[in-house]
Amino acid sequence: MHILFAASEASPYAKTGGLADVCSALPKALAQLGHKASLVVPFYKCVREYFERTGEPLESMYGVTLDAPVGKQVKRAGVRKAKLDQVDVYFIEHDDYFNRDGLYNSQGVDHADNCERYSFFCRCVLELIARLDLDVDVLHANDWQTALAPVFLDSVYKSHSRFETGSLFSGTARPDIDNMGQAAKKFDKIKSVFTIHNLRHQGRFWRGAMEVTGLDWSLFTYDKMEFYGQLNLMKSGVLFADAITTVSPRYAQEIQTEAFGEKLQGVLKMRADDLVGILNGVDVDEWNPATDKMIAANYDVNTFVDGKPKCKAALQQAMGLPVDPFVPLLGVVSRFDAQKGLDLVASVAGDLVERSGVQLAILGSGDKKLADWFSDLARRYPYNIAVQNRFSVELSHQIEAGSDMFLMPSRYEPCGLNQMYSLIYGTLPLVHDVGGLHDTVVNASDENIANGTGNGFIFYWENVDDMKKALDWALYVYRCRNLEWRQLMRTAMKLDLSWKKSAREYDALYTKLVGGAK
Ligand code: ADP
Ligand code: GLC
Repeated sequence: MHILFAASEASPYAKTGGLADVCSALPKALAQLGHKASLVVPFYKCVREYFERTGEPLESMYGVTLDAPVGKQVKRAGVRKAKLDQVDVYFIEHDDYFNRDGLYNSQGVDHADNCERYSFFCRCVLELIARLDLDVDVLHANDWQTALAPVFLDSVYKSHSRFETGSLFSGTARPDIDNMGQAAKKFDKIKSVFTIHNLRHQGRFWRGAMEVTGLDWSLFTYDKMEFYGQLNLMKSGVLFADAITTVSPRYAQEIQTEAFGEKLQGVLKMRADDLVGILNGVDVDEWNPATDKMIAANYDVNTFVDGKPKCKAALQQAMGLPVDPFVPLLGVVSRFDAQKGLDLVASVAGDLVERSGVQLAILGSGDKKLADWFSDLARRYPYNIAVQNRFSVELSHQIEAGSDMFLMPSRYEPCGLNQMYSLIYGTLPLVHDVGGLHDTVVNASDENIANGTGNGFIFYWENVDDMKKALDWALYVYRCRNLEWRQLMRTAMKLDLSWKKSAREYDALYTKLVGGAK
């Protein structure tokens, strides 16, 4: 099977969060299962810089250009190609749209032409299939940025429907699909999958943005692309794709409720038969304490007693904290965003330091208020709290390896990767009981310590008191029940969180779709 991924970010080229990790790891895992997997990503400024920096091979596909309508104009993209393991990676090059700072925003302000940029990108994904005559079985789109790919596939490229504002694009601008013969048939057989990584970000735009998509206004209805008078790309993806997935079984249930549905719960319920939650995996090429080149010492489940203290000391040093093997060190690596519940951490941090003498190592970027709050705390408690307000892959690995515990009090969490990285690195996660956190962390209650299943700490209500209680319990186990703490670390490190199992679940879904079932 040939699975073609459309993604707005993919590691190691362009990353703002877990979406990037998943959009490169899953195609790699599918290729390892024997499928052909390709990936299409915008050629951002940071992608260009990545190749300049690393010198990795990047093919300029001279002569391959893609013409895609944007409003009343036709714009032209170039294509570059690279290889990520066995995956063909195509980059869509258009300087006006992608050669700028920030993937989606600059200095906290969304790029004003985001709808236009990603509509163009999605259109180019389909044009790429036509231009290179790719024999694709499944088109797999991710989040709102690529949600228009299944819409274009279904309403423009398949021979049964032509919901395009036709007259605007007559002429030579794009392949004449009616006369494409074999190529058109290729589109007819393609199934589409749309993955929701985060329902909060839906790509909602002013209704007039329909014009830039080039799609016919007859699609602007409540059961297709319209949402309370606006254009909603996430909703469109949900309604046009053959199958919908999200990134954990728990989140698949949650998003069908009012509390987590972000006003799309009705639409999601409508498509419940085609919606499945598949837990993300961990790219163990990147995240493995036994081989990680970014950490001070390598270790595994048998050697962590030796290795982990070295990582802890190195982290304390890197963060400017006193080097002390006995003080509990709590790590955070996160986007600073309301989703992540870090205001709870900021509210208890002072008290925690004063009562329990812990150290906090925080790495994050995003919301300025939260960043300032943490910086104030770091000034007040310089021996206990250290904050780095930036994006650093290297430091994120060092925090995962060097901390004793990892805090992830998210208000909602579709899957969450950091708690899984923490588990693998023997850094016990303390999490709120939602989404993928619920699906991956087993609370170290007395019972679960005794039966050997506990691997972290959970609080069940999103409030400071509940989180504090869980923290107090965790710190008590850390300090007073050291042998059991080590057992918890071993249980965590032994988990198989690699992509193998999840990739097989995607494989089964694709097979079902391609086999004809909707
Ligand atoms: P989300 O995608 O919602 O941000 P995830 O837990 O799924 O949450 O994934 C976050 C990814 O982004 C992880 O790989 C994490 O290490 C990384 N990350 C987040 N913030 C930073 C940062 N400031 N520096 C480096 N990596 C970060
Ligand atoms: C989103 C979610 C996160 C998930 C990631 C990858 O950014 O917030 O929970 O792990 O996507 O699927």
